[in-house]
Amino acid sequence: MSSLPRTLLPALSSPPGDRLEVVSAWDDVTPYQSWRPQILVPATFRPPTAARVFAVVNQKGGAGKTTTTVELAAAWAAAGFRVRVIDADDQEAALSVWLLPQFPQGAPQRSLRSVFFDECTLLEATYPTLFENIDIVPSGLDLKRVEYDRPIGAEQALATALRKEAEQDGGRSPYDVTLIDGAPSLGLVTVAALTAGDQVLVPLAVGGLDLKAMASLDRTITSVQEKTNPKLDVGAVFLTAWDKSGFARQLAAKVSEDYPDAPVFPIRRSVRAAEAPITERPVRLHAPESTAAGDYGQAADVLMPARAAA
Ligand SMILES: Nc1ncnc2c1ncn2[C@@H]1O[C@H](COP(=O)(O)OP(=O)(O)O)[C@@H](O)[C@H]1O
Ligand SMILES: [Mg+2]
Repeated sequence: MSSLPRTLLPALSSPPGDRLEVVSAWDDVTPYQSWRPQILVPATFRPPTAARVFAVVNQKGGAGKTTTTVELAAAWAAAGFRVRVIDADDQEAALSVWLLPQFPQGAPQRSLRSVFFDECTLLEATYPTLFENIDIVPSGLDLKRVEYDRPIGAEQALATALRKEAEQDGGRSPYDVTLIDGAPSLGLVTVAALTAGDQVLVPLAVGGLDLKAMASLDRTITSVQEKTNPKLDVGAVFLTAWDKSGFARQLAAKVSEDYPDAPVFPIRRSVRAAEAPITERPVRLHAPESTAAGDYGQAADVLMPARAAA
């Protein structure tokens, strides 16, 4: 596994003028036409000091979950963190065809499904990718079996697998950060992801917002908090494919009203982000000068600053 030549993810080459300003309160005075996107970091926000598990969840397809998972992973990997991504999308498995898992020859190929059915540990279902510091737990269409067969304890399966792994390693996870890429549904696998997470990262597509979808995600989070994971909170909101509009600005204000302690990150719309999946590389490698790579890089720095890398 370690003999694999893995590509180092690059430092960014975006011009400094492209960086977003960080503010602690929205500017609601400047008319939106002359408003620049800003990163909101509430005064109450503190970056984590221990290993982190983020569930990237929104039950709408096309919200930017997979892109957010890949780009945060790429940014943290470039900063020296050991990153694992978990593909929890039973419908598209887009993550597993973007960051291709490198299966060893001649061994059975495990996936997240195998973990739910107690066929192997989470670590046995974890494979290297072609990128330094990023490993993946892949999924395929057969992850749907979890929803159909509802194996015993499925809601807790991921949380238990993560806990067992940390216990084996003397209380320390082999990864500094785990990102779970959610499915466009609030099914059992998504509930398991929320149950396993320390925090939820919510991507919202600025163009395709559905306030009803946001309300039902909020109900699911509340219900998971009450029943299976009291420590869960919303760690950040990403406004993906951001374009300047009065609506984008209202949306930014609304999410920080709903989640007052969560940073809000606009990720500017960029054709480079849309191209990246077919190149099988993160945007950060495909187009390190792009605004999408830069915006995700800034978000990663705020959420988990590089100096915390082991
Ligand atoms: N910042 C961005 N600019 C332009 N296109 C984007 C951006 N972020 C994501 N996309 C595109 O939007 C679509 C949905 O994104 P994706 O991450 O797959 O969402 P989800 O996983 O929630 O379904 C994809 O085609 C993706 O390439
Ligand atoms: Mg996806």
